[in-house]
Amino acid sequence: MKRDDGGMTNGLQGDSPNGTRRVRIAGTGRSVPDRVLTNADLERIVDTSNDWIIARTGIEERRVASDEEYTSLFAVDAARKAMEMAGVEASDIDLVLISTVTPDMPFPATACLVQEELGAKGATAFDLNAGCTGFIYGLSVAHQYVSSGAASTALVIGAESLTKYTDYEDRSTCVLFGDGAGAVVLRGEAPPGPSSENGLAGILSVAIHSDGSLAHLLEMPGGGSRNPPNRPETLEARLPFIRMLGNETFKVAVRTLAEVSGEVLEGAGQRPEDVRWLIPHQANRRIIDAVGRRIDVPADRVYVNVERYGNTSAASIPIALDELNRDGRIDSGDLVLMAAFGAGLTWGAAAVRF
Ligand code: UT7
Repeated sequence: MKRDDGGMTNGLQGDSPNGTRRVRIAGTGRSVPDRVLTNADLERIVDTSNDWIIARTGIEERRVASDEEYTSLFAVDAARKAMEMAGVEASDIDLVLISTVTPDMPFPATACLVQEELGAKGATAFDLNAGCTGFIYGLSVAHQYVSSGAASTALVIGAESLTKYTDYEDRSTCVLFGDGAGAVVLRGEAPPGPSSENGLAGILSVAIHSDGSLAHLLEMPGGGSRNPPNRPETLEARLPFIRMLGNETFKVAVRTLAEVSGEVLEGAGQRPEDVRWLIPHQANRRIIDAVGRRIDVPADRVYVNVERYGNTSAASIPIALDELNRDGRIDSGDLVLMAAFGAGLTWGAAAVRF
């Protein structure tokens, strides 16, 4: 619950005798840059081909921030849209959580810059880094705050400007990434009574995992305190760029996405046939297809937009969720399963009933 001085207490709210409020997604929003980078454009930059990129990744184009654009601009735009849909004012928000690996700057937290831009005075604001799993991590953390009553209304945003850290001399990674942001507003409600309609709506189950022994598979080794930007050799060795051992990452991604999807379905007491939409992290069409097959969700229930945006890391799931939601393709009562995988290594999933 928000205090007058702007901090948070962990006190429970009066309407929740057992301390567990249900947590619903009350609004969604997205924002992507206008500039489009096609596979044909990339053919002119590195030794690649449209055919290779489509066959290996499914990506046709991606959105790229201009020199004047940066992460918090997309975050604010997506957040405003989610707030409008949810019908909440900036003054209602008591937690702003941004998942990103491409903040505006190392500090202050991008969440604080977004808080100020939105006018969410008095909210608690912080960033979270869990690579491409960032949005699921954000959902998990915010869920704890809201379900316990420590916060009532939370903004969870996945926002990235990955192309600023993309090495356009490395064809194995530069074809993959894109920029943008997606946001959700979470609201806490008193637990439903036994006779209430749609009594199970809200976040049913979330799981998040990490394995630092695989950190080397996907990293941006320069720009931090280990390889600081004030050493010329950092830039000479091209360390402040995304590096990935794609093939190894691919295999771990398929396995962990399938495992954690099963874990949250079980935690929610649901079966694969109950899932209306599986929204996997949009890294690669082949990973998405393989995960759908492994967990037995038919292809027409697996949402894919990687062909238009590429891999937008923490932004990919909330962008996809907002597309489905605004297109009216999520009905009340639908079960949506979101699953992500990324740097850390990290992986996680959430089962949400709308
Ligand atoms: O979002 C966080 C998690 N990230 C992921 O989940 C990404 C996981 N990995 C992948 O999506 C795939 O591994 C990639 C799309 C990155 C690569 O696909 P792959 O099927 O694993 O290809 P590969 O790395 O095994 O490379 C196969 C060949 C190599 O040539 P040789 O050694 O067989 O002659 C590469 O040099 O493809 C070559 N290659 C390319 N060729 C044309 C690599 N990149 C390109 C390219 N264009 N852009």
